[in-house]
Amino acid sequence: MSADAPHVKGGIGQSILRKEDARLIRGKGNFVDDVKLPGMLYLDITRSPYAHAKITAIRTDKALKVPGVLAVITGKDLEAAGLAWMPTLMSDKQMVLPTDTVMYQAQEVAAVVADSRYAAADGAAAVEVDYEPLPVVTNPFKALEPGAPVIRTDRAEKSNHIWHWETGDKAGTDAALDGSAVRVTQDLYIPRIHVSSMETCGCVANMDPVSGRFTIWMTTQAPHAIRTVYALVTGLPEQNIRVISPDIGGGFGGKVPVYPGYVLASVASIKTGHPVKWIEDRSENLQADSFARDYHIHAEIGATQDGHVTALRVKTLADHGYTDAAANPSKFPAGLFHIITGSYPFAKAFVEVDAAYTNKPPGGIAYRCSFRVTEAVYTIERMMDLLAHKLNIDPAELRLKNFIPPEAFPFRSALGWTYDSGNYAGALRKAMEIIDYAGLRREQEAKRAKGELMGIGISSFTEIVGAGPSQTFDILGIKMFDSAEVRIHPTGKVIARFGTKSQGQGHETTYAQILAEELGLPADDIRVEEGDTDTAPYGLGTYASRSTPTAGAAASMAARKIREKARVIAAHLLEVSPDDVEWKDYAFRVKGVPGKSKTMAEVAFAAYTNHPKGTEAGLEATDYYDPPNMTYPFGSYICVVDIDKETGQVSVRRFVAVDDCGTIINPMIVDGQIHGGLTMGFAPALLEEIQYDEDGNIHGGTFMDYLVPTAVETPNWETAKTVTPSPHHPIGAKGVGESATVGAPPAIANAVMDALRPYGVDHIDIPLHPWKVWQALHGGGKSA
Ligand code: CDP
Repeated sequence: MSADAPHVKGGIGQSILRKEDARLIRGKGNFVDDVKLPGMLYLDITRSPYAHAKITAIRTDKALKVPGVLAVITGKDLEAAGLAWMPTLMSDKQMVLPTDTVMYQAQEVAAVVADSRYAAADGAAAVEVDYEPLPVVTNPFKALEPGAPVIRTDRAEKSNHIWHWETGDKAGTDAALDGSAVRVTQDLYIPRIHVSSMETCGCVANMDPVSGRFTIWMTTQAPHAIRTVYALVTGLPEQNIRVISPDIGGGFGGKVPVYPGYVLASVASIKTGHPVKWIEDRSENLQADSFARDYHIHAEIGATQDGHVTALRVKTLADHGYTDAAANPSKFPAGLFHIITGSYPFAKAFVEVDAAYTNKPPGGIAYRCSFRVTEAVYTIERMMDLLAHKLNIDPAELRLKNFIPPEAFPFRSALGWTYDSGNYAGALRKAMEIIDYAGLRREQEAKRAKGELMGIGISSFTEIVGAGPSQTFDILGIKMFDSAEVRIHPTGKVIARFGTKSQGQGHETTYAQILAEELGLPADDIRVEEGDTDTAPYGLGTYASRSTPTAGAAASMAARKIREKARVIAAHLLEVSPDDVEWKDYAFRVKGVPGKSKTMAEVAFAAYTNHPKGTEAGLEATDYYDPPNMTYPFGSYICVVDIDKETGQVSVRRFVAVDDCGTIINPMIVDGQIHGGLTMGFAPALLEEIQYDEDGNIHGGTFMDYLVPTAVETPNWETAKTVTPSPHHPIGAKGVGESATVGAPPAIANAVMDALRPYGVDHIDIPLHPWKVWQALHGGGKSA
């Protein structure tokens, strides 16, 4: 944008500073744990040391004698109220507290309510529970073997198999693979990881026994959906329930589910008539909250001899822990895993997924990913590299040879998704130019000659975000639209409320920028609010990079409705017919006489002081936006690694990320999203993993052994953009929040395998710990 081009202060494309930072960097944010109410009590939880055990007795007398302890809640108490179990988002059920069996280590067993956090913790430690250990299953393959101990004895089906899901053309894919000149197969495991957001989960539940009003401040990414679920499960009238989601310190999908702690604090408040606060500590958060990934994948790709892909077949076993609490749209038990054909025009594809119960906490949350897209992208981008190696074609060349070309959009994938727009070769060529790909390959050759290990890895990913079009996307029947309500006050200042809820993404800034652009009012004059079900219009919340594609679009549409009415008022002020007035360069102008104009602020004042006969006073609109399609952001990442031969230590020397999220609202915020996402993609590639031993003990339940990258380990990210607008989004924007988490792991894994190629190593499962790399180097071949 040139300086003299018409623009509005803080409009689209400007890197304005984040409005929310004024309070956050001064320590003036308002998080759940900042909520303090008169008479507030505290809740703490007694947890199981066993992964699978019968509870033979719970004794609460000692806990009740701890000074300050007021009550202890057990599963039997909840059972009496019909609340021992609650529904999950995938129509399974989940224990609030067990009545007879615990099914994972750190599961909630009893809740203690006290007048201080310390007394509650002492009380929780004093609850005595007798257990009779049961056989434990932590491996999903073993869980499905005949004779495996059945974990969910409450179900009619006496097996650990949850569901089978498949999509695509099975026979056609089999035939295409049989007829392919080249075929590559690989087993890939994407381990269980944790979102480990800065703020743990928590709530303050407050049932007012006089008014019957139930208010809950809660770390939730989806306040409205929670309110409806609460109303349906408890029978409380929905208008009496208020869910407030204040500032949130990172959600990443981990704050979508309803955890037992939320329900226990609610029950405790109803039982005591006091507000009750429950805040998890870090270990509880890492050990008991829902996890992501845990997909065991077997993939097979076919191609012609000259490297054109033909078919893709994928069989997956998903470890869901003891319940299927995956946060997916209801029609997609394996999320959007079938975006797995990626950036390539496969003629045939077939994907099947089976889900199994194990003695672990629930899995399947969409960790900074639009429902299993990370797993899909990792698979296809690793398979493309394996294919390139098999064919002895450069991985960049193989991708460029195969990409869906720009003119093929809208493009219908073999698994039925219609990609909106893309220019995959454009993004890869840009990344290759920035990083000097040809120069790096020359350097690598020279280093290989000297016996040094250097690798170059590419990931050219396509995402699918913006859930979603209501004909296919719902959660428990609630359609996945989102909303904006925009009100312009007489002085031209705006308040806008949304059904989404930022957890650090900067919505207060970027929604204001969209409205500034559409309304011709400075972003500074627009106040954005989210997260209070009493005030915000109904929406499905923020996860899966859906906010910009849905609520961002609703902002535009609501503003355009306002402009329609404002045009009539402007015509009245300009004393011309509305047909003679157009919206141009951020003002209402008389056609052909652009100097004769009215600003939105002038029109707003008139809307309350001098509106024309036949129109209503006021200037506001609401929009519930049902997207016509998903948006398909994409990008190409290139990573360069050096590996220490003696230790197996991988260091990322360079990482260039070229992203395309269509129209960019705030370039600085988008870069922030990419930097954070890349770090969250770097983490599982090299460091993070939650493992369980055979007894179901969690390894990685503290930050001493769950390796979250700090600034010390994190490489320097180099970012660039291409812009391919979405044809169906009102401002051409696609989501971006998750692109880098999704795109980074295969780029890093591909770089490591590229370095190890001379040693005959095809694949090592992530995380690529030094010991694994060292073993592969010294094993002289394939390694697990
Ligand atoms: O749903 P969530 O907010 O996590 O994801 P998103 O819609 O991808 O947006 C993340 C942040 O990046 C928001 O502040 C967006 O407004 C901003 N963004 C942007 O500035 N331009 C885009 N094309 C997409 C997102």
